[in-house]
Formats: sequence, structure tokens, C-alpha cells
Amino acid sequence: MAGNKMYEALNEQIKYELYSSYLYLSMSAYFSEAGLNGFANWMMVQAKEEMTHANKLYGYLISRGAPIKLLPIDGPPSAWKSPLDVLQEGLKHERFVTSRFNMLMDLADKSKDHASKIFLQWYVTEQVEEEENFTDLVNKLKFIKDDGGALFMLDKDLAARAFVDSTQAAEA
Ligand SMILES: [Fe+2]
Ligand SMILES: [Fe+2]
Repeated sequence: MAGNKMYEALNEQIKYELYSSYLYLSMSAYFSEAGLNGFANWMMVQAKEEMTHANKLYGYLISRGAPIKLLPIDGPPSAWKSPLDVLQEGLKHERFVTSRFNMLMDLADKSKDHASKIFLQWYVTEQVEEEENFTDLVNKLKFIKDDGGALFMLDKDLAARAFVDSTQAAEA
């Protein structure tokens, strides 16, 4: 049986996933104000995904009979220097979240909590994809630099991103 420390740390992770959602919602608003509706859509989809990450943690804790104690969520920033700055901050944040899951995995290892380890594997894999997605956009924006035409082309591409609840697909 896993100790309270594991459950407390997973409980705390709900806060980080919800903060991620809050951050990307703020980034989506930034892009809407800038008239970049494709980027705004991409960030809105990202915000929705983070909600599902939080819900998956919640569902696991409930199924383990662990106590739920929801923590306060910080307010995200609302101003950035440029689209590149936004995506770079997003990538930085995803790397932080990855470090959180590595820590959680270490904790599950240490406490020989096999169920939590198997549960956390989904997030470890998901973080590889998250970092890859943000890195891809950072690289594209670096390439685009001040080319307004290229930026609007990319914006058009990003308008096509649709929300898929991958937490449900993984369990099917
Ligand atoms: Fe997440
Ligand atoms: Fe994420």
C-alpha cells in the first residue's frame, strides 16, 4: 500500500496540471488579442488537454481511496514579448512538468508503489510528446523570424488542431 507521501504528491500534481491549463488559456487570450486565431486555437486545445491530465490524476486518486485536497492555483502571466517568447515559455513550463513526473516516478520507485508507477508511465510518455510539440513550434517561429507572411501561413495551419481526449483513448 502506497504511503500518504505518494498520494500527497499526486494530489499536488493536479494543481500543476490545472496551472498548465490556466497558463495556456492565458496564452490563447494573448494570441486572440494579437489576431493570431490559429495560435489561439492551438493554445485553447492545449488548455483543454491539461484539464484532462488533471482529471486523470483525480480519477486515479479516487480509485485508490486516497484523500483529495485541492490546492490554490497561481495566476499565470498575461503578457509576452512575441509569439516566440510565448512558445519558449510554454516549452520551459513543459520541461518543468516533465521534471515533476520524473520526481513522482522516483517516489513511486522508492516506495515500491507499482500501481502508481504504471499509472505514471502514461504521463512520462505524454511529456515526450508535449516537449516535442512545443519545440517544433519554437523552431518554426525561429525560422520565420519577422516574416509576416510565413507567420500567417503557420497561423492557418494551427487553426486545424482539434481537441482529442487522449486520456480516454489510452484507457480504451
Ligand atoms: Fe499535462
Ligand atoms: Fe502539458
